[in-house]
Amino acid sequence: MPQHISDCTRLNNGVLMPWFGLGVWKAKDGDEVRQAVRTAIELGYRSIDTAAVYGNETGVGEAVAECGIPRDQLFITTKVWNEHQGYESTLRAFEESRQKLRLDYVDLYLIHWPVKGKYIDTWKALQKLYKEGYVRAIGVSNFHEHHLQAIMADGEIVPAVDQVEYHPRLAQTELLRFCNDHGIQMEAWSPLMQGKLLDHPLLADIAAKYGKSVSQVILRWDLQNGVVTIPKSVNPGRIAQNADIFDFELAAEDMEAINGMNTGERVGTNPNQFDEQ
Ligand SMILES: NC(=O)c1ccc[n+]([C@@H]2O[C@H](COP(=O)([O-])OP(=O)(O)OC[C@H]3O[C@@H](n4cnc5c(N)ncnc54)[C@H](OP(=O)(O)O)[C@@H]3O)[C@@H](O)[C@H]2O)c1
Repeated sequence: MPQHISDCTRLNNGVLMPWFGLGVWKAKDGDEVRQAVRTAIELGYRSIDTAAVYGNETGVGEAVAECGIPRDQLFITTKVWNEHQGYESTLRAFEESRQKLRLDYVDLYLIHWPVKGKYIDTWKALQKLYKEGYVRAIGVSNFHEHHLQAIMADGEIVPAVDQVEYHPRLAQTELLRFCNDHGIQMEAWSPLMQGKLLDHPLLADIAAKYGKSVSQVILRWDLQNGVVTIPKSVNPGRIAQNADIFDFELAAEDMEAINGMNTGERVGTNPNQFDEQ
């Protein structure tokens, strides 16, 4: 069980990835994202999750360059966007992301969504980047089990990570079991359901019992379920609050109660439907 903000899970290729990090979707490029990343790193965060489509890799790169923490103690994730998928275009997109981030290598490079007819070729490009040492681990995002099966049937490398929507309303129990059985680390996006669960009475009761906030209870639930979590905030107080989850442990009955909130409700698109939008 993670005891400290920099504690890591060991990915299927041996690389260590922090259990906890900062998400920066919707953080504006420039000062907003730069300050958020700087604040987070000062508070002990070591993992930052961005993506080409967030449009803020430049600001993340600036913050990383000026933070004073040695590069090998940081864990930077970015993702190839849908319109850049395919073999050659993924290689070009990666180089653009790497330049914006001002990095020699990226720690984790993900396929953002399983674009039909393209994601296998995209995966082959990620395998090349991995073999050449430009990325320390490769993975996917928004992949259901059948997408993972397709990659595993055609590719040489099993994804290290599947980053999916995950929160008490969408506990992804079958996918989590599949990932655990195949050495794929699940990672939660929108762990706070984008703020939609903060007033939930059951979570509020549990939070009161531990003297913690609802956000902290949810994030702790992620960790105790073996899921990496990357809450987003650009607010220094909330960045600090979200990280203060390593000094308590939810009892089995409270884990069960939160597990019982799973209704399958999403805030984002179902990966099976996003191609149709
Ligand atoms: N792979 C994908 O397709 C995908 C999709 C979505 C997200 N993601 C990743 O996952 C990260 C997290 O997901 P998310 O940004 O969608 O949502 P989230 O982390 O569930 O929620 C973020 C929202 O909650 C607020 N918030 C944060 N901490 C809070 C706290 N302690 N108390 C009250 N409100 C709080 C934030 O506002 P303030 O900033 O004002 O604090 C923001 O509005 C993203 O930033 C991104 O890196 C990936």
